[in-house]
Amino acid sequence: MNNETMKTTNELILKYNRPAPRYTSYPPVPYWTHAPTESEWIGHLKTSYNEQTGVDLYVHVPFCESLCYYCGCNRTITKNHSVEEKYLKMLLKEWELYKAKLGFVPKINSLHFGGGTPTFLSAANLERLMNSLLENRSESFIGSVEIDPRTVLPDHFETFRKFNISRVSMGIQDFNVTVQRSINRMQSPEMVKKLVDQLRALNFESINFDLIYGLPNQTVETIKETFDIVSELRPDLIAFYSYAHLPEKIKNQKLIKESELPTPEVKRELYQTGKRILEEKGYVEIGMDHFALPGSSLHKAMVEKKLHRNFMGYVDKKSNIMIGLGPTSISDSSLSFVQNAKDNEPYAKMVEAGKLPLTSGHTHSKDDLLVQKLILELMCQQEMHLQNKEAIPFWHEIEKELESFKEDGLLEMQPDRLEVKTPGKGFIRNIALSFDFHYRTKTTSARFSQSV
Ligand SMILES: C[S@@+](CC[C@H](N)C(=O)[O-])C[C@H]1O[C@@H](n2cnc3c(N)ncnc32)[C@H](O)[C@@H]1O
Ligand code: SF4
Repeated sequence: MNNETMKTTNELILKYNRPAPRYTSYPPVPYWTHAPTESEWIGHLKTSYNEQTGVDLYVHVPFCESLCYYCGCNRTITKNHSVEEKYLKMLLKEWELYKAKLGFVPKINSLHFGGGTPTFLSAANLERLMNSLLENRSESFIGSVEIDPRTVLPDHFETFRKFNISRVSMGIQDFNVTVQRSINRMQSPEMVKKLVDQLRALNFESINFDLIYGLPNQTVETIKETFDIVSELRPDLIAFYSYAHLPEKIKNQKLIKESELPTPEVKRELYQTGKRILEEKGYVEIGMDHFALPGSSLHKAMVEKKLHRNFMGYVDKKSNIMIGLGPTSISDSSLSFVQNAKDNEPYAKMVEAGKLPLTSGHTHSKDDLLVQKLILELMCQQEMHLQNKEAIPFWHEIEKELESFKEDGLLEMQPDRLEVKTPGKGFIRNIALSFDFHYRTKTTSARFSQSV
C-alpha cells in the first residue's frame, strides 16, 4: 500500500468507522418487535415448509473446556463432561417437541453444529443425537461442524464422516505465539497440520479456518507469519473476522489489555495484508470477510450468484426454514425470527415443561422483507437491484447518502443498480446501514461493534 492510498484509506476509516450491526440477519436482533406466539411460530413454519427443500438445522453446543479472552459466543466453560448427558436429553426433547407440534417429521436439508465447542460432546453422544435428528434426511443432505483443534479426537471425525457432516470449520484465530498468549489460546501450526492431514485422508469435503484481525499484539509482521502458515495448510475456505471488542457487554473481554489492541488504521492494514497474501496464493474474496479457493462450494455459489447468508455466515444452499436447537439458537421461518432462552437453566426448564424454549422474536413487516432482500444481495453479491426505489423506506435520505459513498469511490450507481467497488468492500456494513430503517428510526441500548 503506498502512502497516498494509505492516507485516503485512513480518511475513509475516520469518516465511516462507527458502531454498526454485522447484518447476519435483518432486522438485527436489538430491533426485533412483535414476537410470534408459539402457535403463530408453528403456523409460520407450516406455511413456509416445502418438502422439496426441507429445513436447515442448527444445533448449539454451549460448552468449552477453556476460555478464549476475545470470545463473544454464548458458552459455558467447564471441564466436567457429566453435563453432556442432561444436555443431550434436552436437545432430543426439544426436537421431539418440534415434531409433535408440527405434526410431521421435517426433511433435513442441512445440519450445522456450532458453539461453544460441538466436539465437547463425545463421539458416542454426537452419534445418538444425529441418529435422532437425521432420521429424515434429504438426498442432498450435507452437514458442517465447528471444531476446536485443541480438543477434537479421531473418533469425532469418524462419526461426522458417517453422517455426511463433511464440512469442517476450525477455530484458528492466529498462529503467532505472542498473540495466542494474549488471547489465552495456544495451538501450534504442527497440531493443526496433523488435523488437516487427517481430514483430507478421510475425504472431508471442505476445511474452513476462522481467523481474526484486530487482536492484541497483532502487527503486520505477525499477520504475515500467520498467513504464510495458512497458505501452506491451504484450507478451502477462510473466514477472516474483524475482532468485535465490547468489554462492557462481554465481560471476559476485560481480560484483553486495550493498550495491546491495534488502532483502527492498523487494524485495516492487518486485513489488507492478510487479503493480499491470500489473493497472491489464489484465494478469492467471496463476501464480507470470507475467502475461498476456486472450485470450492462457496466459490462456485458466488460465481453462479447463488451465495446466501444466514446467522452462521455464508452458505451455498438454503431452505425457507432454519430451526435452531439449544440455548441462544435463532430460528428463521422466512416470515419471522425467534430466539431460544440464552442461559442453559431457563432453556432446560422450558423444554422440560413441554414448551418450545422461545424467549424473543420478530414478525417481519413488508418493509422488513424488502430491506432484508436488498441487504442480503449487498452482502452476498456486493450489488443491489433497485427497481422499485420509491417503495424503499427513507429512499430520498438513502439516495443522498449513496451519493456521498459514490464520491468517496466506494460504489457505482446505475439507474436501477448499485455496485460496490473494490475500496467499498471494507465499508459494506456502512452501506447496509443506510438502508436499515430500524437503525434510522429507533434508539437501542444494545452496543454494536465498530464497522471497520
Ligand atoms: C462460535 S466460535 C466456535 C469455534 C470453536 N469454538 C473454536 O473456537 O475453535 C466461531 C468463531 O467466532 C469467532 N469469534 C468469536 N468471538 C469473536 C469476537 N469477539 N470477534 C470476532 N470474531 C469472534 C472466532 O473466529 C471463532 O472461531
Ligand atoms: S472461541 Fe470457541 S473455544 Fe474459545 S471460548 Fe469461544 S466458543 Fe469456546
